Amino acid sequence: MLTASDIESQKRLAALAAVDLVENGDLVGLGTGSTARYFVEELGARLAAGRVTGVRCVATSLATERLAGVTGLPLVALPASGVDLAVDGMDEVDDGLRAIKGLGGALTREKIVAAAARRFVLIGDAGKRVDQLGERTPLPVEVLGFGRERTARLLEDLGLEPTLRVQSGKEFLTDNGNPVLDCRVRLPADLEELADRIDRLPGVVDHGLFLHHADLAFLASFGGMEELRRPE
Ligand code: 5RP
Repeated sequence: MLTASDIESQKRLAALAAVDLVENGDLVGLGTGSTARYFVEELGARLAAGRVTGVRCVATSLATERLAGVTGLPLVALPASGVDLAVDGMDEVDDGLRAIKGLGGALTREKIVAAAARRFVLIGDAGKRVDQLGERTPLPVEVLGFGRERTARLLEDLGLEPTLRVQSGKEFLTDNGNPVLDCRVRLPADLEELADRIDRLPGVVDHGLFLHHADLAFLASFGGMEELRRPE
């Protein structure tokens, strides 16, 4: 049985593997969450030590923006030309490199940056690997506050079971000021079709299915580092 500290070590190992991919002068998308945090800290440390030079970064959340500031990573707004590399954690990943993200609530900005990356790399402990996406975690959907009960009904009509995310007794709001509906997915599900149908619902800002974004995933376990690559 892994302890919480074992899992933290694995997250850190996966993050370190991804930092090795950063090249001098890269524009790097910084993910959000406890695994991405290790990536940001290590990249900041390498920049400070001169082990990598000229990198600039785009943060996917206000929390990551603050962390990048503390670690001395220069931040820029996402340019129209995108980023060289983006690195982020995930809540679940399957063998086809498809992921659910968003338990940290940054899914919309994370997807904008992931979609703008020449290379998008997922990092996590091996416990994030699943046979079927949705088997352990709900699918987060960021929605507009306006009409959110109606949007929840439309998600139910797709076979999902939405629950409004609450944090510290209050409605959780993303950095964009929107609520999140965490949706239990009834399995088995056709995720391609589900993503497409959610994308078309009025009131939905974005959802946590990242089906075609990742090029590579580093999954750390005590057995070693596993690399999942996008199927040809
Ligand atoms: C935030 C995310 C995170 O990447 C995801 O929740 C994983 O977080 P952690 O590394 O803390 O397990 O999608 O929106």
